[in-house]
Amino acid sequence: MITASTIKIKDDEFVELKDIIYKNAAISFADSKKYLIENRLSKRLQELNFNSFKDYIYYLKYDAKKREEMEILLNQVTINETYFLRERAQMDHMIKTAIPELLNSGKRNIRIWSAACSSGEEPYSIAMLLNEAGLFAKASIEILATDINTEVLDIAQKGIYRTISFRGVPPQIQDKYFAKDGFAYKLDANIMNKVKFFQGNLLNPMMTTKVGRLDVIFCRNVLIYFDIPAKQKVIDLFHKSLGMPGALYLGHSETLNKISEAFKMENFGGGIIYRKI
Ligand SMILES: C[S@@+](CC[C@H](N)C(=O)[O-])C[C@H]1O[C@@H](n2cnc3c(N)ncnc32)[C@H](O)[C@@H]1O
Repeated sequence: MITASTIKIKDDEFVELKDIIYKNAAISFADSKKYLIENRLSKRLQELNFNSFKDYIYYLKYDAKKREEMEILLNQVTINETYFLRERAQMDHMIKTAIPELLNSGKRNIRIWSAACSSGEEPYSIAMLLNEAGLFAKASIEILATDINTEVLDIAQKGIYRTISFRGVPPQIQDKYFAKDGFAYKLDANIMNKVKFFQGNLLNPMMTTKVGRLDVIFCRNVLIYFDIPAKQKVIDLFHKSLGMPGALYLGHSETLNKISEAFKMENFGGGIIYRKI
């Protein structure tokens, strides 16, 4: 029977599990996050009838189901906090500056990537704002959205959201694009159809091939979980994937300082855009 009790992780088990998570998703856990691992994984261990992390680590490493278990593990340990129109100034900058620049340079096929999109609020916000600005009529715009976590991608593809996702969304936008569905809100199918979701690890070298050539990348609030070598690999992937002129938007607390010199930083007042050089 599954109980809510917490299984304690020993120091050496924590080091080994942290290493496994790092190798598979690049996410680094500080020692102070031991409780988080215990809290998030104890239920899973009990479902598998394990009473120690040692048994779980063995299962992750050697069981025939280790690939499936890795997906379950990563779904448990990622932080998926997000909401509609988060750090909106960058999205407005893309609409008012980055996309007009692409249009002025003659581009009529524009590709945008929301890398680490969580449950879809970020790429859907981009789609709503593009629609508000009438930009879908001016170019063929494709929005790709990826995340390592398959559970949040399922939520994204259902397009049903609770009130918590609407912090700071103007009521006229919410009323225009969402229909009330019990205690939740269902996104308009026309906006849902503008975004193509797929699962992907930002550290997977095959990602460049999977996403193809891009014009704009949003990668916000994920690099904070990575160490410097992992950040460098991801930024290198973005540099290879972006065409010219290529725009990269990071989260407010993220920077390319000491990570890459292959982008020019521009402060536009409401935030920062990194331009490929
Ligand atoms: C805090 S959310 C940010 C969501 C959105 N970009 C925003 O700013 O609101 C971070 C997301 O990064 C994803 N993530 C973590 N490691 C990843 C990796 N190695 N590859 C792809 N996505 C990853 C998590 O699953 C999570 O959904």
